[in-house]
Amino acid sequence: MNAPPRALLTGASSGIGAALARELCRRGAHVWLGARRADRLATLVDELRAAGGVAHAVTLDVADAASCARIVTGLDDDCGGFDVVIANAGTGGRTTDLWKMQVDDAAELVATNLTGALATLLPLLPRMRGRGRGHVVGISSQAADIKQPQGAVYGATKAGLSYFLDSVAPELAEHGIATTIVHPGFVKSEMTAKNKFPMPFLVETDAAARRIADAIEARQRWLRFPWQIAVAITVASWIPGSVRASITRKSVPPPPSS
Ligand SMILES: NC(=O)c1ccc[n+]([C@@H]2O[C@H](COP(=O)([O-])OP(=O)(O)OC[C@H]3O[C@@H](n4cnc5c(N)ncnc54)[C@H](OP(=O)(O)O)[C@@H]3O)[C@@H](O)[C@H]2O)c1
Repeated sequence: MNAPPRALLTGASSGIGAALARELCRRGAHVWLGARRADRLATLVDELRAAGGVAHAVTLDVADAASCARIVTGLDDDCGGFDVVIANAGTGGRTTDLWKMQVDDAAELVATNLTGALATLLPLLPRMRGRGRGHVVGISSQAADIKQPQGAVYGATKAGLSYFLDSVAPELAEHGIATTIVHPGFVKSEMTAKNKFPMPFLVETDAAARRIADAIEARQRWLRFPWQIAVAITVASWIPGSVRASITRKSVPPPPSS
């Protein structure tokens, strides 16, 4: 019988991460759950253990890249090597408004969504290569494919994460390491609860977690959901940039982050 997969998941204290922690545990994975809010993690770990799961809380700040890298490699040593690492921690930032955004706001988005994801994933790659197996997962966003001024920095951080994972995937595959790049549309979470604009095809958190867990289990390279948003983005990409800009200015709400 195969040993249960050991999964490291960041951003597990709320939203998609907490739902995915429940889903992975329900499917038999042993989970290490990272985030800054230790109290929220402790409550979730208690809940998962009460349901018979194997879960551990890991207080970490992915925006502190050096400390994050130390923590994930230490955990990798302690647990005997992660089978799956999921970079999910993310922030929508304080504003999506191009004209209000300060450099500090942009730096926080980059530090969490891009550098933070790299600080979670990169230190584990050579270890997975040494073991000849592993799986890296990035929770990016459909915002990575939407080019509009509102949410442009958030979209850039997510495009950066997707670009990185898509670039390394073939090399990783040669060493037995799978890659899954997830582009959700709007999903119910603390992040989107703040949104005051309509969120078309809003997905329930648990449904999003099931879709992501299915893609991880299938070692699927790409997951874009809901399909309606993915199709709309693809069609929009066929429209010339100047026309698209005038349409999005008039009708498209900011991307999921705001
Ligand atoms: N909801 C959507 O519509 C949507 C759409 C596309 C992509 N996404 C992406 O999905 C991921 C999860 O977001 P969500 O919607 O579930 O929002 P959420 O409920 O706000 O969850 C964000 C999670 O990230 C953690 N986090 C934030 N900054 C962190 C840091 N510096 N270090 C460690 N953990 C940190 C938060 O925990 P602490 O505050 O406790 O640290 C929390 O657990 C994000 O990457 C987001 O960009 C969301």
